[in-house]
Amino acid sequence: MTTVLQVSDTHIVAPGQMVAGRLDTAASLQKLVTRIGDMLPQIGPVDAVLVSGDLSDDGSRESYAHFRALLAPLDLPLFVIPGNHDCRAHLREAFADDGYLPQTGRLNWHRQVGEVDLIGLDTLVEGQGGGVLEDETLEFLQDALAKVGQRPVLLALHHPPFDCGIWFMDAIGLSGSDALTDLLQASQAEIRILCGHIHSMMVMSVGRAVAISSPSPCSSFAFDLRADAPKGFLTQEDGFLVHQWQQGFRSVRIPLEGGAGPFQF
Ligand SMILES: [Fe+2]
Repeated sequence: MTTVLQVSDTHIVAPGQMVAGRLDTAASLQKLVTRIGDMLPQIGPVDAVLVSGDLSDDGSRESYAHFRALLAPLDLPLFVIPGNHDCRAHLREAFADDGYLPQTGRLNWHRQVGEVDLIGLDTLVEGQGGGVLEDETLEFLQDALAKVGQRPVLLALHHPPFDCGIWFMDAIGLSGSDALTDLLQASQAEIRILCGHIHSMMVMSVGRAVAISSPSPCSSFAFDLRADAPKGFLTQEDGFLVHQWQQGFRSVRIPLEGGAGPFQF
């Protein structure tokens, strides 16, 4: 069995700072790290932790150092992709020692983790909320999928390749997802797409693949499909996802708060 945990949209800033004047994102991430630590004996061995973008809220060097310090107690292999709040140069610099990020260009990467091929794609357009799959990134994916053959794939990109129905998030969605669907269609692999951005868990079919978005530990967006839904975030904190491969993929959401029990039926 191969197990990858997914954490997303942690929006960390320098120590002592708040996000949007009200979110203590470091305290939220600390709670999540404690929760993950508590769950590890139940989940079993973990091969990697994937962080699907918006590690930082402001892209500062201090925020990435703070992020690394907050995740350090887990002592698990960490793989990251950039989100729209990240700064490509500072993120690359902060994680350069881990060896999987390219030294130049977009932060696209491919590593084998247990029985699974983990592929990270860079959809960041600096200065914009929306993301894009550039030709360079699509070519990288095409080459990676050719090498993968029929092995199972976890494909990570920050911006979901589907509409979530929340108007102000779809307004900063992903360009180039039709080309992505075509590439997936041509692959023989079983592919699960892992995203972030919309601070809520949704599951969608994207061509032959299943796409899943992760909740965020620091905030969420209301599932409000009205055309005049109020724009903004909720202070609701949420947990993380567990993705496991054993003949097929299993994906589970673990909420930040565990319930009382177990009690006898
Ligand atoms: Fe985010």
